[in-house]
Amino acid sequence: MAYQNDEVGKVSELLQAKIEGLGDKKAILRAPELLALYERIKTLPPEQRASFGKEVNTLKSELEELVQSALNSQPSILSPIDVTAPFDINAPKPTLLPAEFGSKHPLMTELETILDIFARMGFTAVESREIDDDYHMFGSLNFPLGHPARDDYDTFMTDEGLIAPAHTSTMQNRVLKANKPPIRVVIPGRTFRNEDLDARHEHTFYQLEGVYVDKGINTSHLIATLKAFLEEYYGQKLEVKTQPFYFPFTEPSFEFALSCPFCKKKGCGVCGQSGWIELLGCGMIHPNVLKEGGIDPAEYTGFAWGGGIDRLVMMKNNIEDIRNFESGNLKFLRQFS
Ligand code: DAH
Repeated sequence: MAYQNDEVGKVSELLQAKIEGLGDKKAILRAPELLALYERIKTLPPEQRASFGKEVNTLKSELEELVQSALNSQPSILSPIDVTAPFDINAPKPTLLPAEFGSKHPLMTELETILDIFARMGFTAVESREIDDDYHMFGSLNFPLGHPARDDYDTFMTDEGLIAPAHTSTMQNRVLKANKPPIRVVIPGRTFRNEDLDARHEHTFYQLEGVYVDKGINTSHLIATLKAFLEEYYGQKLEVKTQPFYFPFTEPSFEFALSCPFCKKKGCGVCGQSGWIELLGCGMIHPNVLKEGGIDPAEYTGFAWGGGIDRLVMMKNNIEDIRNFESGNLKFLRQFS
């Protein structure tokens, strides 16, 4: 817009440049330069006031139009912000880390491999919960009230009595109730224990649970399933062995060991020179657990197992300290990117 009056022309140019940088575009209508022009009107000789005033009004209309068109071109919904995204705190002005700086956590990479093998063996996956209750932690798993075996699962509790699950077995009852046999489910999940922390003990870790129920299932199916998984996972033939153990929710219960895939039973640092690695707990699902899950133990039998994922990843990658996983230490994590 060309203005007859130089003074109005200059303010027009100035304010048009200023509006670009304004977050609140409407603020331009309150700009001191514009208000000063209105004030000027009163100081002019009467014969100049009308034409000057008309130009100032034109300028105001022009600014109003600019404000309106700026508002129209603004998106009505602001783009979403990921409040959990990591900031680069070392940058002079903290900025979001570009996505390509991130990498998959080694535990999740391994879990994907594990779930892929079980999927090919016909297992579906259900994620466990990070907060649970006494019934799923103990009651549904055949731990009577006050039973000393409860002490093996020392974990954290909220004031309301909710429990941070100490194992993924908390999901067994839900899986049994939600499915009709044949049931083939694996359950990965985050688990918690009140541990004295050291290189092998962490308060937060990951487990993988497995549940298999059908007619005529026995321990040979349990051993064959775990052996087939481990041979696929380590890409080699392995020997496996079971030792009797006790869990309230399985009968019989076993500790399951495999021949060391790293030294082929010769003895090495990973297997503590023994040639064998004790990997997980397992057994035939106790009839009381099946009954509590709505499955008739006279008709169906099943097996279950549960073991740590962290340990598998540590052995595979020569990681000596389990606390690395939850540390958020980028130097550690970037080795796996
Ligand atoms: N929940 C047991 C633990 O964390 C492991 C376990 C043992 C799971 C036997 C099972 C099982 O499903 O059948 O010590």
